[in-house]
Amino acid sequence: MQKTADLIIKNIGMLVTPIGNQAKKGEEQGRPTVLYDAFIAVTDGIISEVGTKNELANVATDEKTEIIDAEGRLVTPGLVDAHTHLVFGGWRQKELAQKLRGVSYLEILRQGGGILSTVRSTRLASYEDLVKKAEGILNKMLRHGTTTCEAKSGYGLDTDSEIKQMKAVRELQLKRHPVDLVSTFLGAHAVPEEYKGNKKEYIKLVCEEMLPQVKEYKLAEFCDVFCEDSVFDLEESRAILEEGKKYGLVPKIHADEITPLGGAALAAEVQAISADHLIKTTDEGLEAMAQAGTIAVLLPATSFYLNESYARAKKMIELGVPVAVASDFNPGSSPNLSLQLPMNLACLKYRMTPEEVLTAVTLNAAAALNRSWFIGSIESEKQADIIMWDAPELDYIFYHYGINQVKTVIKKGKVVVSN
Ligand code: NIG
Ligand code: FE
Repeated sequence: MQKTADLIIKNIGMLVTPIGNQAKKGEEQGRPTVLYDAFIAVTDGIISEVGTKNELANVATDEKTEIIDAEGRLVTPGLVDAHTHLVFGGWRQKELAQKLRGVSYLEILRQGGGILSTVRSTRLASYEDLVKKAEGILNKMLRHGTTTCEAKSGYGLDTDSEIKQMKAVRELQLKRHPVDLVSTFLGAHAVPEEYKGNKKEYIKLVCEEMLPQVKEYKLAEFCDVFCEDSVFDLEESRAILEEGKKYGLVPKIHADEITPLGGAALAAEVQAISADHLIKTTDEGLEAMAQAGTIAVLLPATSFYLNESYARAKKMIELGVPVAVASDFNPGSSPNLSLQLPMNLACLKYRMTPEEVLTAVTLNAAAALNRSWFIGSIESEKQADIIMWDAPELDYIFYHYGINQVKTVIKKGKVVVSN
């Protein structure tokens, strides 16, 4: 029996969406489905039908069906931000002057600033303040089109403060914030000051005290490591990710961001769902990822903000690595919460096509969070997370930039933003 729609979006000028339940790679990444003069029907928060104008008359409606007239605008799936550091105390605007004097990101960290400065503020912040601050940020993300967001711990670096961060994520989920959250444990984000010169002991704390509690309280789905020169080396990263697997956590890795340590090959070896950053990854590392099916989560706003080079996204696509693009929102290397700037940069700096980028921030990002079976595309039986843009077609949102181009956000079939 045909379901009665409770929402219909009609007069869609251009509907662009990848199709399917798995990450797209190679040429497929740049070939989303495009429909003109389209409509979407939603029932109980799930997409029930997608079609073109002439098929709309066949959709069952009643007096309660809400109709949204898109007036010829562009419609895409809701954006999925697959890499953020959402929960933290304080900000780091004081580092701007140091940066302008040419002090590098890793040098600031070695001097006890950077991540360690945010660790001090996060430890001092109350649980309630962390929740409130993250909620304010999520509200802004939602207005910019993000409908699902990953959130990493990693600014606590002691057991209680790490748990405090992950519980804040959980509370926002329980409060049913319209942005769905996905929790990642990143206890190995840096070596805290009290363990300086004693990294082994800190790794022991992560593996023997934090990981068991993450599992016991079901605080995260993924385990991430900052694999970087003077942070965690390959061997240490491997040990932590393998230990995380024993507790049911799927590996992710901050890999080859500033130094080509070989994090991409490690991601392939430990069967990580994604390797993130990859600015300095070698061809061998990328080939290993292609073989293993590891998703590349690229963070162009971080390259921009650290004045670094840009990851070789086109090479990755050519080699068959599925590419996702995320914001890396955090108070140090990427204080930008909108996915729209990374989308523009992915197009203009990586030279990805608008179609490739759209797949990167929807289906491929959903796959990097193990959620491509129910979000990341507009097709029947997927969750109705949908954006209507203040734009007539896809190219427009990549050509135009610097302002919020999202007009309406629909989450689980309900209008949650109208800008
Ligand atoms: O992904 N690179 C490591 N972690 C974050 C930055 C965290 C920070 O600077 O506070 C990143 O860029
Ligand atoms: Fe990060």
